[in-house]
Amino acid sequence: MHALFDERRYLIPFRASLLPQIFCDTLIVGSGVAGLRAAIAAAEHGEVIVLAKGDIRKSSTAWAQGGIAAVLGTSEQAVRMHVEDTIDTGGGLCDASIVQSTVAGARPRIEELRRWGMRFDVNEEGEISLGREGGHRESRILHSDGDATGRELVRCLGQQVQRTAAIRVFENCFALDLLTVSDGDNSPVVGAITHHPKYGLQMIWAWATIIATGGAGGVYRETTNPAGTTGDGIAMAYRAGAAAADMAFIQFHPTTLYVAGAERSLITEAVRGEGAHLVDRRGERFMLGAHPMAELAPRDVVSRAIIDQLADTGDSHVFLDARHFKPGFFAERFPGIAAQLARFDIDPEHDLIPVQPSAHYTIGGIHVDAEGRTNRPGLYACGEAACSRLHGANRLASNSLLEGLVRGEITGRTCAEQREPGNGPRTPKRIISDIALSEHGGLDLTDVRSSLRSVVWRHLGITRSGQTMSDVRDMIDFWGRYTLDKIFDDPMGWETQNMLLVAALICKSALWRQESRGVHNRRDFPDAREAFRCHDLWRKGQSEPATIDVPTVATGAPT
Ligand code: FAD
Ligand code: SIN
Repeated sequence: MHALFDERRYLIPFRASLLPQIFCDTLIVGSGVAGLRAAIAAAEHGEVIVLAKGDIRKSSTAWAQGGIAAVLGTSEQAVRMHVEDTIDTGGGLCDASIVQSTVAGARPRIEELRRWGMRFDVNEEGEISLGREGGHRESRILHSDGDATGRELVRCLGQQVQRTAAIRVFENCFALDLLTVSDGDNSPVVGAITHHPKYGLQMIWAWATIIATGGAGGVYRETTNPAGTTGDGIAMAYRAGAAAADMAFIQFHPTTLYVAGAERSLITEAVRGEGAHLVDRRGERFMLGAHPMAELAPRDVVSRAIIDQLADTGDSHVFLDARHFKPGFFAERFPGIAAQLARFDIDPEHDLIPVQPSAHYTIGGIHVDAEGRTNRPGLYACGEAACSRLHGANRLASNSLLEGLVRGEITGRTCAEQREPGNGPRTPKRIISDIALSEHGGLDLTDVRSSLRSVVWRHLGITRSGQTMSDVRDMIDFWGRYTLDKIFDDPMGWETQNMLLVAALICKSALWRQESRGVHNRRDFPDAREAFRCHDLWRKGQSEPATIDVPTVATGAPT
């Protein structure tokens, strides 16, 4: 990774004292499930500001289809099975105590959502109806409006946030960087510098800052993620001295609608949970021989089987076959997907649905402890931006919304510790960022972005190899030299700089991890290796990662 990636502390030059000043107790960057749930908890001990870089209704959370994995009853066995499924999927890297506390924390979070007015789908007896997805041995997935769980979740949490007087939400407000008075390890994070199209640059000072900016799927050409999922929070935390962990682990969803030229959109795994088959162009089910759970094997297994299938046949996609469903069932159970398919004249009762895998979920992220603390005082993280070690090397389907709810609440509650007596009054700090003007020529940012996304998709995708990743590292360094030394004045430029940094971190971690485990699959190291049964943590200025061993109780075997 070129030195420039580590040298740049802030994306833009500024003098803090010359900009408008805003104060709060807790600043939360991100308004998905993790940010909103953290905000509600943090509002119990002070004033909260939540930032969304666009509209609050646009996030991965809002797009979630399948649902929330949660054990609703009090059965210890049901909790144990959810814990085991999570760990078995996680390729030997789950932290068993994080898994246990997250799974056990589901019931109170779901009960409160229901109290706050969230509508879950119910069966004919009026009980919550539970779906099933890959890697789950039981049906335990709560959903809303068939395949629009995320939309209902954001509506419900958004409404609860609106009812909470201590929370202000700033939409269209882009966080560029976290503020620290010095680069020293003990210098706390004291807020963020932001940009709003109407108000320009602003300093938001806070005792505690929580990063809940979601993942980085947007660095891949093929992704299920909404535009703007560019890893900003991971990049800004790294620039501020926080550790990024397990960045090699990017999860690929097996079934994204593949229509050449059209935007990719997810076909929820719940479709397979209801019994749809994956078939090749001859109509043959290729998952039957690939895994005992066939189409409901964990995602990494299914994605790899599809990639192998495509390599063998030279085809661009495989198919989902739901033609055997009862007439009317598909449209009733999956109304959003049925409508999306209809736009392309695909009728799942009569037609096969063309699908291919694409980047879906960032398992790695900002390293946090069990309460959401990073290694920088005053800085916390939760949700997809964080690496809580819940998912290990591969995430169990629908555990992410659960993580956002449970770990978001814990993080929002924990950051009250920043207001301990002795922390001093909230005052603006003297922070100056100076950046020399670039001597390089102008740039076509769109071109840099699309070249980066293509290369990352091709060589940091479902299968990888050391030689091509070394080439990718050199390409990212090359683009970085011409892009990171520039000063941009809008989100397109800042996002591109963040994407380059996050891609460089994914590449660095994937090159270091000389093994195959979970979603990280190397042709040159096809097996899991005991030496790498650990988490890799990368910090600015360090060429080798710090590693953390996995507590021995996490018994999941590498897949
Ligand atoms: P997000 O929901 O991604 O929210 C990120 C927030 O950060 C946004 O508000 C954004 O505006 C803000 N932000 C980002 N950068 C900045 C910045 N620089 N400045 C200011 N604000 C910023 N998981 C499940 O468990 N079940 C499912 O059914 C499911 N289905 C999915 C379907 C799709 C299509 C996708 C893409 C994902 C799905 N996932 C699902 C994964 C899950 O939705 C996400 O992992 C989860 O919602 C992430 O929540 P989050 O709060 O961490 O971040
Ligand atoms: C899906 O509905 O298939 C996505 C679920 C998830 O990402 O957890």
